[in-house]
Amino acid sequence: MRVIVCNDYDEMSKKAAKLVASQINLKPNCVLGLATGSTPVGMYQELANLNHAGEVDFSEVVSFNLDEYYPISRENNQSYYYFMQQQLFSKVNIKPERTHIPNGEVEDPDEECKRYEALIQEHGGIDLQILGIGQNGHIGFNEPDENLNSLTHLTDLTESTIEANSRFFQSKSEVPTKALTMGMATILKSKKIVLLASGRAKHKVVAELLTSDINTGIPATMLKVHPDVVLICDKEAYSSMYLGVDIGGSSVKFGIIDEEYNLIYKDSIPTRISQPAEVIADDIAKMCKKIMAKYPIVGIGVGAPGSISGKIITEASNLPFRDFPLAEILEKELGIPVELNNDANCAALAEATIGTKAKNMLMITLGTGIGGGIVIDRKIYSGLGDAGEIGHMCIQADGILCPCGQRGCWEKYASVSALVEQMQAAAKENKDSLLYQMIQENHEMVDGKLIFSAIKQGCEVAKAVFDKYLDWLTVGIRNVIMIFRPETVVLAGGITTEKELLLKPLIERVASDVPIKISKLQSDAGVVGAALLARD
Ligand code: PGA
Repeated sequence: MRVIVCNDYDEMSKKAAKLVASQINLKPNCVLGLATGSTPVGMYQELANLNHAGEVDFSEVVSFNLDEYYPISRENNQSYYYFMQQQLFSKVNIKPERTHIPNGEVEDPDEECKRYEALIQEHGGIDLQILGIGQNGHIGFNEPDENLNSLTHLTDLTESTIEANSRFFQSKSEVPTKALTMGMATILKSKKIVLLASGRAKHKVVAELLTSDINTGIPATMLKVHPDVVLICDKEAYSSMYLGVDIGGSSVKFGIIDEEYNLIYKDSIPTRISQPAEVIADDIAKMCKKIMAKYPIVGIGVGAPGSISGKIITEASNLPFRDFPLAEILEKELGIPVELNNDANCAALAEATIGTKAKNMLMITLGTGIGGGIVIDRKIYSGLGDAGEIGHMCIQADGILCPCGQRGCWEKYASVSALVEQMQAAAKENKDSLLYQMIQENHEMVDGKLIFSAIKQGCEVAKAVFDKYLDWLTVGIRNVIMIFRPETVVLAGGITTEKELLLKPLIERVASDVPIKISKLQSDAGVVGAALLARD
């Protein structure tokens, strides 16, 4: 599907009219498939102008309209018969006997559908079909369904179409509930198809059309099997999309958000951490190219763990990036702007923008380490660079040595890895405990699920370790609340979803008027935030 994005409705209408006029000039007796609705009105007016200016002659043209309400009288000013007379046929030199619209007045609609389908085929099929698109993805009145009809048929209108079309009627109850419509095959047999979309109301469905695989839930996606379809739309209907890339120790996540912050695509590739930085950058570039071939991406944001300076990753724990200009490399390779920031900052930005929507907030990510993101006035606060590394705030002088070189870093006590180590140590010292038994049964693997399950089954050892862990967590959270007094603290990471055992007692211990909330976006926060870097 070719896409032409116009500045506005007027430009879209003129471009479409030009295409139709070229078709008629190329084959004066061509068969046009015509559409109704508000979208093609401007195109019809422009065709009338061209006709009057002598630039196109309709005298030999044959037309077939896509659809008509059923039952409806031709005199009804909401009938498509009436619409076509008003908007086009009365304004150009087309011969009335050469125009065709399914007849909404007949007694036997099935017979009418058969007649109409046969008539189209008798005329050699449609040369150029004009289509609008419904907000639910319908084309003609082929409504979303498990099965789509191939030939002209009588159909029930969906609630969403009745709602959308009620704007033309006095009230919703006056909108006919049925229609006669060309089927999908009737449309797809056309030699060329022009799909028009205009305005904000079509923004979502155009994004869905461009990003979805062929499916009957969005009938317009069927057009993707046709070799000659052009979508002409205005900027309001067209979705600019932003790609977020979230680099982690085991995988690189990719996600696309549209202008309304919907996450419309997600995928990932393994992070080849044993390879040099250049190889990982190349893996990322290749995946971006693949995605860009399919989606209208206008900007990329990358979130990476560690220290970031502008377009450079100066240092990333567990990843082979040292003073590596990742964003510059990707920009050169992909030809679009690439923004870079710390991954926890990205997650914080996502939460502040579309999750909890707090203007001033702190995000704390509990995982292998503790990541932090400070959002002030909805912007990431970086200070001189790297602000927000709250996992390395010291909570114990002369405490456990951290790979960062400092002793007593918060994440050595309150990260998930720290919790796992604490549980493993306690289990070894208490071999008669349920915790020890469960760890043995799980091949010495410990994770949040096992820990919470041991506590729920009444294991005193696990409970005591967890109580101490909650103390460490509480200390750090109280510290940052004292410093920032944010509107809210948002916690992310798998274990934070445990409400009864983690969130409730934590809130009690912190005992602050600052609300502590769980991330709404959770594992998507990083990738969404990275995409937001590109967007904003
Ligand atoms: P509209 O309708 O042009 O009035 O938006 C298009 C359609 O429903 O196909």
